[in-house]
Amino acid sequence: MIKSKRWLMACLVLASCGFTATTSPEASLKKVFKNDFLMGAALNGKQASGKDPEATAIITQHFNTISPENVLKWEAIHPQPEKYNFGPADAYVAFGRQHNMFTVGHTLVWHSQTPDWVFEDAHGKAAGKALLQQRMAEHINTVAGRYKGQIGGWDVVNEALNDDGTLRQSKWYTIIGEDYLAQAYQLARKADPKAELYYNDYNLWKPAKREGALRLVRSLQAKGLKVDGIGMQGHWGLESPSIAQIEESIVAFSKVGKVMITELDIDVLPNPSNRNGADIDATFAFDEKYNVYTNGLPEEVQQKLARRYADIFALFHKHREKIARVTFWGVTDADSWLNNWPIKGRTSYPLLFDRTYQPKPALDAVLKSVSKSSSSQ
Ligand code: G3I
Repeated sequence: MIKSKRWLMACLVLASCGFTATTSPEASLKKVFKNDFLMGAALNGKQASGKDPEATAIITQHFNTISPENVLKWEAIHPQPEKYNFGPADAYVAFGRQHNMFTVGHTLVWHSQTPDWVFEDAHGKAAGKALLQQRMAEHINTVAGRYKGQIGGWDVVNEALNDDGTLRQSKWYTIIGEDYLAQAYQLARKADPKAELYYNDYNLWKPAKREGALRLVRSLQAKGLKVDGIGMQGHWGLESPSIAQIEESIVAFSKVGKVMITELDIDVLPNPSNRNGADIDATFAFDEKYNVYTNGLPEEVQQKLARRYADIFALFHKHREKIARVTFWGVTDADSWLNNWPIKGRTSYPLLFDRTYQPKPALDAVLKSVSKSSSSQ
Protein backbone atom coordinates (compact mmCIF):
# COMPACT_ATOMS: atom_id res chain seq x y z
CA MET A 1 0.00 0.00 0.00
CA ILE A 2 2.72 2.44 1.11
CA LYS A 3 4.84 1.28 -1.77
CA SER A 4 2.05 1.86 -4.27
CA LYS A 5 1.38 5.34 -2.84
CA ARG A 6 5.05 6.21 -3.25
CA TRP A 7 4.99 4.85 -6.77
CA LEU A 8 1.97 6.94 -7.58
CA MET A 9 3.55 10.09 -6.19
CA ALA A 10 6.66 9.42 -8.22
CA CYS A 11 4.57 8.92 -11.33
CA LEU A 12 2.66 12.12 -10.77
CA VAL A 13 5.88 14.04 -10.35
CA LEU A 14 7.56 12.52 -13.35
CA ALA A 15 4.32 12.32 -15.35
CA SER A 16 6.01 9.70 -17.44
CA CYS A 17 5.30 6.26 -15.96
CA GLY A 18 1.53 6.51 -16.26
CA PHE A 19 -0.80 6.37 -19.24
CA THR A 20 -2.04 9.64 -20.64
CA ALA A 21 -5.47 10.88 -21.62
CA THR A 22 -4.17 12.27 -24.88
CA THR A 23 -3.61 10.04 -27.84
CA SER A 24 -2.64 11.06 -31.32
CA PRO A 25 -5.65 12.08 -33.42
CA GLU A 26 -4.89 9.22 -35.86
CA ALA A 27 -4.64 6.54 -33.15
CA SER A 28 -7.06 3.76 -33.91
CA LEU A 29 -7.84 0.54 -32.08
CA LYS A 30 -8.91 -1.28 -35.23
CA LYS A 31 -5.65 -0.36 -36.95
CA VAL A 32 -3.46 -1.34 -34.01
CA PHE A 33 -5.15 -4.75 -33.82
CA LYS A 34 -5.79 -5.22 -37.54
CA ASN A 35 -3.70 -8.38 -37.76
CA ASP A 36 -5.05 -9.77 -34.51
CA PHE A 37 -8.81 -9.57 -34.02
CA LEU A 38 -11.79 -7.38 -34.79
CA MET A 39 -12.38 -4.50 -32.40
CA GLY A 40 -15.92 -3.50 -31.57
CA ALA A 41 -18.42 -1.68 -29.44
CA ALA A 42 -22.06 -2.18 -28.52
CA LEU A 43 -24.26 0.62 -29.83
CA ASN A 44 -27.38 1.96 -28.17
CA GLY A 45 -30.40 3.01 -30.25
CA LYS A 46 -29.29 6.63 -30.60
CA GLN A 47 -25.82 5.67 -31.77
CA ALA A 48 -27.09 3.01 -34.15
CA SER A 49 -29.42 5.50 -35.80
CA GLY A 50 -26.56 7.99 -36.28
CA LYS A 51 -28.11 10.56 -33.91
CA ASP A 52 -24.98 10.81 -31.76
CA PRO A 53 -22.39 12.27 -34.19
CA GLU A 54 -19.59 12.46 -31.61
CA ALA A 55 -20.09 8.77 -30.89
CA THR A 56 -20.17 8.03 -34.63
CA ALA A 57 -16.75 9.68 -34.94
CA ILE A 58 -15.31 7.41 -32.22
CA ILE A 59 -17.00 4.30 -33.61
CA THR A 60 -15.78 4.81 -37.17
CA GLN A 61 -12.25 5.75 -36.09
CA HIS A 62 -11.73 2.86 -33.70
CA PHE A 63 -14.04 -0.05 -34.46
CA ASN A 64 -14.66 -2.47 -37.32
CA THR A 65 -17.45 -4.48 -35.68
CA ILE A 66 -20.62 -3.48 -33.84
CA SER A 67 -23.07 -5.20 -31.53
CA PRO A 68 -26.60 -4.02 -30.69
CA GLU A 69 -26.91 -3.26 -26.99
CA ASN A 70 -30.70 -3.63 -26.95
CA VAL A 71 -32.45 -3.12 -30.32
CA LEU A 72 -32.44 -6.78 -31.36
CA LYS A 73 -33.64 -8.18 -28.04
CA TRP A 74 -37.02 -9.87 -28.10
CA GLU A 75 -38.89 -7.21 -26.08
CA ALA A 76 -37.53 -4.48 -28.36
CA ILE A 77 -38.06 -6.04 -31.77
CA HIS A 78 -41.06 -8.29 -31.07
CA PRO A 79 -43.04 -6.65 -28.26
CA GLN A 80 -46.38 -8.30 -29.04
CA PRO A 81 -47.35 -11.56 -30.73
CA GLU A 82 -48.30 -9.95 -34.04
CA LYS A 83 -46.16 -6.85 -33.76
CA TYR A 84 -42.56 -6.45 -34.84
CA ASN A 85 -40.71 -3.19 -34.33
CA PHE A 86 -38.00 -3.40 -36.99
CA GLY A 87 -37.13 0.31 -37.28
CA PRO A 88 -34.29 0.56 -34.70
CA ALA A 89 -32.80 -2.81 -35.73
CA ASP A 90 -32.95 -1.87 -39.42
CA ALA A 91 -31.08 1.35 -38.57
CA TYR A 92 -28.46 -0.64 -36.65
CA VAL A 93 -27.90 -3.03 -39.56
CA ALA A 94 -27.78 -0.11 -42.00
CA PHE A 95 -25.12 1.57 -39.82
CA GLY A 96 -22.98 -1.55 -40.03
CA ARG A 97 -23.42 -1.77 -43.80
CA GLN A 98 -22.70 1.92 -44.33
CA HIS A 99 -19.47 1.71 -42.38
CA ASN A 100 -18.49 -1.71 -43.64
CA MET A 101 -18.45 -3.31 -40.22
CA PHE A 102 -18.90 -6.89 -39.08
CA THR A 103 -22.41 -6.69 -37.66
CA VAL A 104 -23.33 -8.90 -34.74
CA GLY A 105 -26.83 -10.01 -33.75
CA HIS A 106 -27.64 -10.11 -30.02
CA THR A 107 -29.68 -12.12 -29.14
CA LEU A 108 -32.33 -14.62 -30.29
CA VAL A 109 -33.09 -16.70 -27.19
CA TRP A 110 -32.58 -15.30 -23.68
CA HIS A 111 -34.41 -15.65 -20.38
CA SER A 112 -34.34 -11.89 -19.87
CA GLN A 113 -35.91 -8.98 -21.80
CA THR A 114 -38.40 -11.42 -23.29
CA PRO A 115 -42.03 -10.36 -22.82
CA ASP A 116 -44.27 -12.46 -20.57
CA TRP A 117 -46.68 -13.24 -23.42
CA VAL A 118 -44.01 -15.38 -25.06
CA PHE A 119 -44.36 -17.89 -22.24
CA GLU A 120 -48.16 -17.68 -21.89
CA ASP A 121 -51.15 -18.96 -23.79
CA ALA A 122 -54.17 -16.89 -24.84
CA HIS A 123 -55.63 -17.19 -21.31
CA GLY A 124 -52.51 -15.98 -19.54
CA LYS A 125 -51.66 -19.50 -18.38
CA ALA A 126 -48.22 -21.05 -18.88
CA ALA A 127 -47.69 -21.86 -22.56
CA GLY A 128 -47.35 -25.52 -23.47
CA LYS A 129 -44.25 -26.94 -25.11
CA ALA A 130 -45.62 -26.93 -28.67
CA LEU A 131 -46.77 -23.30 -28.45
CA LEU A 132 -43.42 -22.10 -27.10
CA GLN A 133 -41.52 -24.06 -29.76
CA GLN A 134 -43.73 -22.52 -32.40
CA ARG A 135 -43.07 -19.03 -31.01
CA MET A 136 -39.34 -19.61 -30.98
CA ALA A 137 -39.43 -20.82 -34.57
CA GLU A 138 -41.51 -17.90 -35.76
CA HIS A 139 -39.28 -15.36 -33.98
CA ILE A 140 -35.99 -16.79 -35.22
CA ASN A 141 -37.26 -17.24 -38.78
CA THR A 142 -38.55 -13.69 -38.87
CA VAL A 143 -35.64 -11.88 -37.21
CA ALA A 144 -32.63 -13.90 -38.41
CA GLY A 145 -34.39 -14.29 -41.79
CA ARG A 146 -34.89 -10.54 -42.20
CA TYR A 147 -31.19 -9.83 -41.67
CA LYS A 148 -29.91 -12.80 -43.63
CA GLY A 149 -26.59 -11.93 -45.23
CA GLN A 150 -26.37 -8.69 -43.25
CA ILE A 151 -25.75 -9.93 -39.74
CA GLY A 152 -22.45 -11.77 -39.72
CA GLY A 153 -22.87 -13.68 -36.48
CA TRP A 154 -25.63 -14.31 -33.94
CA ASP A 155 -25.60 -14.80 -30.19
CA VAL A 156 -28.20 -17.50 -30.71
CA VAL A 157 -28.64 -18.39 -27.06
CA ASN A 158 -27.55 -16.04 -24.30
CA GLU A 159 -26.82 -16.94 -20.68
CA ALA A 160 -28.30 -20.45 -20.53
CA LEU A 161 -26.00 -21.52 -17.70
CA ASN A 162 -25.86 -21.06 -13.95
CA ASP A 163 -22.51 -20.20 -12.40
CA ASP A 164 -22.10 -23.83 -11.31
CA GLY A 165 -22.25 -24.95 -14.93
CA THR A 166 -25.73 -26.49 -14.78
CA LEU A 167 -28.47 -25.33 -17.13
CA ARG A 168 -30.44 -22.32 -15.92
CA GLN A 169 -34.04 -23.19 -15.05
CA SER A 170 -35.39 -20.53 -17.40
CA LYS A 171 -38.88 -20.69 -18.85
CA TRP A 172 -37.31 -21.93 -22.07
CA TYR A 173 -35.85 -24.84 -20.15
CA THR A 174 -38.80 -25.62 -17.92
CA ILE A 175 -41.36 -25.54 -20.73
CA ILE A 176 -39.46 -27.05 -23.66
CA GLY A 177 -36.74 -28.99 -21.85
CA GLU A 178 -33.02 -29.09 -22.61
CA ASP A 179 -33.80 -29.52 -26.27
CA TYR A 180 -34.65 -25.83 -26.61
CA LEU A 181 -30.97 -25.18 -27.11
CA ALA A 182 -30.58 -27.55 -30.05
CA GLN A 183 -33.77 -26.20 -31.59
CA ALA A 184 -32.55 -22.62 -31.38
CA TYR A 185 -29.29 -23.42 -33.20
CA GLN A 186 -31.10 -25.51 -35.78
CA LEU A 187 -33.58 -22.71 -36.51
CA ALA A 188 -30.88 -20.05 -36.70
CA ARG A 189 -28.88 -22.16 -39.13
CA LYS A 190 -31.91 -22.60 -41.32
CA ALA A 191 -32.82 -18.91 -41.24
CA ASP A 192 -29.34 -17.80 -42.29
CA PRO A 193 -27.04 -20.69 -43.23
CA LYS A 194 -24.00 -18.46 -43.69
CA ALA A 195 -24.18 -16.51 -40.42
CA GLU A 196 -21.85 -17.57 -37.63
CA LEU A 197 -23.64 -18.89 -34.57
CA TYR A 198 -22.37 -18.32 -31.05
CA TYR A 199 -23.08 -19.20 -27.45
CA ASN A 200 -22.65 -16.14 -25.19
CA ASP A 201 -22.48 -15.90 -21.38
CA TYR A 202 -20.91 -14.09 -18.41
CA ASN A 203 -18.59 -15.39 -15.68
CA LEU A 204 -17.14 -17.93 -18.09
CA TRP A 205 -13.79 -17.58 -16.34
CA LYS A 206 -15.28 -19.52 -13.40
CA PRO A 207 -14.04 -23.12 -13.72
CA ALA A 208 -17.45 -24.76 -13.20
CA LYS A 209 -19.17 -22.46 -15.68
CA ARG A 210 -16.31 -22.87 -18.16
CA GLU A 211 -16.81 -26.63 -18.01
CA GLY A 212 -20.58 -26.17 -18.37
CA ALA A 213 -20.13 -24.07 -21.50
CA LEU A 214 -17.73 -26.59 -22.99
CA ARG A 215 -20.15 -29.43 -22.23
CA LEU A 216 -23.01 -27.51 -23.77
CA VAL A 217 -21.21 -26.52 -26.96
CA ARG A 218 -19.68 -29.95 -27.43
CA SER A 219 -23.06 -31.63 -26.98
CA LEU A 220 -24.64 -29.37 -29.60
CA GLN A 221 -21.77 -29.94 -32.01
CA ALA A 222 -22.00 -33.69 -31.38
CA LYS A 223 -25.60 -33.50 -32.62
CA GLY A 224 -24.30 -32.08 -35.86
CA LEU A 225 -25.34 -28.53 -35.05
CA LYS A 226 -23.30 -25.54 -36.07
CA VAL A 227 -21.90 -23.57 -33.14
CA ASP A 228 -18.97 -21.48 -34.36
CA GLY A 229 -17.70 -20.15 -31.11
CA ILE A 230 -18.15 -18.92 -27.58
CA GLY A 231 -18.61 -15.31 -26.52
CA MET A 232 -17.05 -14.58 -23.15
CA GLN A 233 -18.77 -11.53 -21.75
CA GLY A 234 -16.06 -9.40 -20.16
CA HIS A 235 -17.99 -7.81 -17.31
CA TRP A 236 -14.97 -7.81 -15.04
CA GLY A 237 -13.56 -5.83 -12.13
CA LEU A 238 -10.30 -4.07 -11.36
CA GLU A 239 -8.93 -7.05 -9.46
CA SER A 240 -11.02 -10.01 -10.47
CA PRO A 241 -10.98 -12.30 -12.39
CA SER A 242 -7.26 -12.88 -12.56
CA ILE A 243 -5.46 -12.86 -15.90
CA ALA A 244 -4.73 -16.57 -15.38
CA GLN A 245 -8.43 -17.36 -14.94
CA ILE A 246 -9.36 -15.50 -18.12
CA GLU A 247 -6.51 -17.19 -19.96
CA GLU A 248 -7.63 -20.68 -18.95
CA SER A 249 -11.04 -20.09 -20.50
CA ILE A 250 -9.62 -18.57 -23.69
CA VAL A 251 -7.41 -21.60 -24.16
CA ALA A 252 -10.19 -24.08 -23.28
CA PHE A 253 -12.77 -22.45 -25.56
CA SER A 254 -10.37 -22.29 -28.48
CA LYS A 255 -10.61 -26.10 -28.61
CA VAL A 256 -14.26 -25.95 -29.67
CA GLY A 257 -14.30 -22.90 -31.95
CA LYS A 258 -13.71 -19.17 -32.14
CA VAL A 259 -13.25 -17.22 -28.94
CA MET A 260 -14.82 -13.79 -28.65
CA ILE A 261 -14.62 -11.31 -25.80
CA THR A 262 -18.09 -9.92 -26.25
CA GLU A 263 -19.11 -7.46 -23.56
CA LEU A 264 -15.99 -5.88 -22.17
CA ASP A 265 -16.15 -3.30 -19.40
CA ILE A 266 -14.26 -2.93 -16.11
CA ASP A 267 -16.30 -1.86 -13.11
CA VAL A 268 -14.35 0.52 -10.86
CA LEU A 269 -17.18 1.16 -8.37
CA PRO A 270 -17.62 -0.67 -5.08
CA ASN A 271 -19.98 -3.61 -5.25
CA PRO A 272 -22.40 -3.97 -2.34
CA SER A 273 -22.17 -7.73 -2.49
CA ASN A 274 -19.85 -10.40 -3.71
CA ARG A 275 -21.91 -10.76 -6.86
CA ASN A 276 -20.05 -10.41 -10.10
CA GLY A 277 -20.76 -10.97 -13.74
CA ALA A 278 -23.97 -9.58 -15.18
CA ASP A 279 -26.96 -11.15 -13.49
CA ILE A 280 -29.31 -8.27 -14.18
CA ASP A 281 -31.76 -9.37 -11.50
CA ALA A 282 -29.13 -8.77 -8.85
CA THR A 283 -29.90 -5.14 -8.05
CA PHE A 284 -29.66 -3.01 -4.89
CA ALA A 285 -31.29 0.17 -3.62
CA PHE A 286 -29.40 3.39 -4.31
CA ASP A 287 -27.02 4.32 -1.53
CA GLU A 288 -24.68 7.33 -1.90
CA LYS A 289 -21.87 5.46 -0.18
CA TYR A 290 -21.55 3.22 -3.24
CA ASN A 291 -21.53 6.18 -5.64
CA VAL A 292 -18.01 7.28 -4.81
CA TYR A 293 -16.76 9.18 -7.86
CA THR A 294 -19.53 11.64 -8.71
CA ASN A 295 -17.00 14.42 -9.35
CA GLY A 296 -14.71 12.48 -11.64
CA LEU A 297 -12.39 9.53 -11.38
CA PRO A 298 -9.32 10.16 -9.19
CA GLU A 299 -6.04 9.88 -11.11
CA GLU A 300 -4.95 6.91 -9.02
CA VAL A 301 -8.03 4.91 -10.04
CA GLN A 302 -7.77 6.15 -13.63
CA GLN A 303 -4.24 4.69 -13.78
CA LYS A 304 -5.35 1.48 -12.09
CA LEU A 305 -8.06 1.06 -14.72
CA ALA A 306 -5.54 1.75 -17.48
CA ARG A 307 -3.11 -0.84 -16.09
CA ARG A 308 -5.91 -3.39 -15.81
CA TYR A 309 -6.81 -2.81 -19.47
CA ALA A 310 -3.12 -3.03 -20.44
CA ASP A 311 -2.82 -6.41 -18.72
CA ILE A 312 -6.03 -7.73 -20.27
CA PHE A 313 -5.07 -6.65 -23.78
CA ALA A 314 -1.57 -8.03 -23.40
CA LEU A 315 -3.29 -11.36 -22.71
CA PHE A 316 -5.62 -10.98 -25.69
CA HIS A 317 -2.68 -10.15 -27.92
CA LYS A 318 -0.77 -13.18 -26.66
CA HIS A 319 -3.76 -15.32 -27.71
CA ARG A 320 -4.56 -13.41 -30.88
CA GLU A 321 -4.61 -16.61 -32.93
CA LYS A 322 -7.51 -17.87 -30.82
CA ILE A 323 -9.49 -14.65 -30.42
CA ALA A 324 -11.66 -13.48 -33.31
CA ARG A 325 -13.18 -10.35 -31.80
CA VAL A 326 -13.10 -8.04 -28.79
CA THR A 327 -16.20 -5.91 -28.21
CA PHE A 328 -16.65 -3.21 -25.55
CA TRP A 329 -20.10 -3.03 -24.00
CA GLY A 330 -20.69 0.61 -24.85
CA VAL A 331 -18.79 3.53 -26.41
CA THR A 332 -18.44 6.13 -23.63
CA ASP A 333 -18.84 5.96 -19.86
CA ALA A 334 -22.07 7.92 -20.18
CA ASP A 335 -23.69 5.07 -22.14
CA SER A 336 -22.69 2.20 -19.89
CA TRP A 337 -25.28 -0.07 -18.31
CA LEU A 338 -23.01 0.02 -15.24
CA ASN A 339 -24.45 3.46 -14.42
CA ASN A 340 -27.58 1.50 -13.53
CA TRP A 341 -26.36 -1.88 -12.31
CA PRO A 342 -26.26 -3.28 -9.71
CA ILE A 343 -27.50 0.10 -8.37
CA LYS A 344 -29.45 2.62 -10.44
CA GLY A 345 -28.20 6.16 -10.91
CA ARG A 346 -24.47 5.89 -10.23
CA THR A 347 -21.59 7.55 -12.07
CA SER A 348 -19.58 4.75 -13.61
CA TYR A 349 -16.26 4.68 -15.49
CA PRO A 350 -15.81 1.28 -17.18
CA LEU A 351 -14.87 2.16 -20.77
CA LEU A 352 -12.09 3.83 -22.79
CA PHE A 353 -13.86 7.13 -23.51
CA ASP A 354 -15.22 9.54 -20.90
CA ARG A 355 -18.55 11.31 -20.65
CA THR A 356 -17.38 14.09 -22.94
CA TYR A 357 -16.25 11.62 -25.65
CA GLN A 358 -12.60 12.16 -24.73
CA PRO A 359 -10.04 9.35 -24.59
CA LYS A 360 -9.10 8.13 -21.12
CA PRO A 361 -5.66 6.87 -20.09
CA ALA A 362 -7.17 3.40 -20.54
CA LEU A 363 -7.30 4.00 -24.32
CA ASP A 364 -3.61 4.87 -24.31
CA ALA A 365 -2.98 1.67 -22.33
CA VAL A 366 -4.85 -0.53 -24.82
CA LEU A 367 -3.15 1.10 -27.80
CA LYS A 368 0.26 0.47 -26.21
CA SER A 369 -0.53 -3.07 -25.03
CA VAL A 370 0.53 -4.63 -28.33
CA SER A 371 4.14 -3.60 -27.95
CA LYS A 372 4.05 -4.62 -24.28
CA SER A 373 2.74 -8.05 -25.18
CA SER A 374 5.22 -8.53 -28.03
CA SER A 375 8.19 -7.53 -25.92
CA SER A 376 7.19 -9.88 -23.10
CA GLN A 377 7.07 -12.96 -25.35
O1 G3I B 1 -36.77 0.63 -23.57
C1 G3I B 1 -37.15 1.15 -22.28
C2 G3I B 1 -37.67 2.52 -22.43
O2 G3I B 1 -38.83 2.50 -23.21
C3 G3I B 1 -37.94 3.10 -21.03
O3 G3I B 1 -38.30 4.44 -21.16
C4 G3I B 1 -36.69 2.99 -20.16
C5 G3I B 1 -36.93 3.46 -18.75
O4 G3I B 1 -36.02 2.87 -17.86
O5 G3I B 1 -36.28 1.65 -20.11
C6 G3I B 1 -35.95 1.15 -21.38
O6 G3I B 1 -35.51 -0.15 -21.27
C7 G3I B 1 -34.21 -0.34 -20.74
C8 G3I B 1 -33.36 -0.98 -21.81
O7 G3I B 1 -32.11 -1.32 -21.28
C9 G3I B 1 -33.16 -0.09 -23.03
O8 G3I B 1 -32.50 1.08 -22.67
C10 G3I B 1 -34.32 -1.24 -19.53
O9 G3I B 1 -34.99 -0.54 -18.49
C11 G3I B 1 -32.95 -1.65 -19.07
O10 G3I B 1 -33.10 -2.66 -18.05
C12 G3I B 1 -32.20 -2.25 -20.23
O11 G3I B 1 -30.92 -2.62 -19.77
C13 G3I B 1 -30.13 -3.40 -20.65
C14 G3I B 1 -29.94 -4.79 -20.05
O12 G3I B 1 -29.06 -5.54 -20.85
C15 G3I B 1 -31.23 -5.56 -20.02
O13 G3I B 1 -31.68 -5.79 -21.34
C16 G3I B 1 -28.80 -2.71 -20.79
O14 G3I B 1 -28.98 -1.49 -21.51
C17 G3I B 1 -27.84 -3.62 -21.58
O15 G3I B 1 -26.54 -3.07 -21.56
C18 G3I B 1 -27.78 -4.98 -20.91
O16 G3I B 1 -26.96 -5.82 -21.71
C19 G3I B 1 -26.74 -7.15 -21.20
C20 G3I B 1 -26.55 -8.06 -22.40
O17 G3I B 1 -27.65 -7.95 -23.26
C21 G3I B 1 -26.36 -9.51 -21.96
N1 G3I B 1 -25.29 -9.61 -21.01
C22 G3I B 1 -25.37 -8.75 -19.85
C23 G3I B 1 -25.50 -7.29 -20.31
C24 G3I B 1 -25.50 -6.36 -19.14
O18 G3I B 1 -26.65 -6.56 -18.37
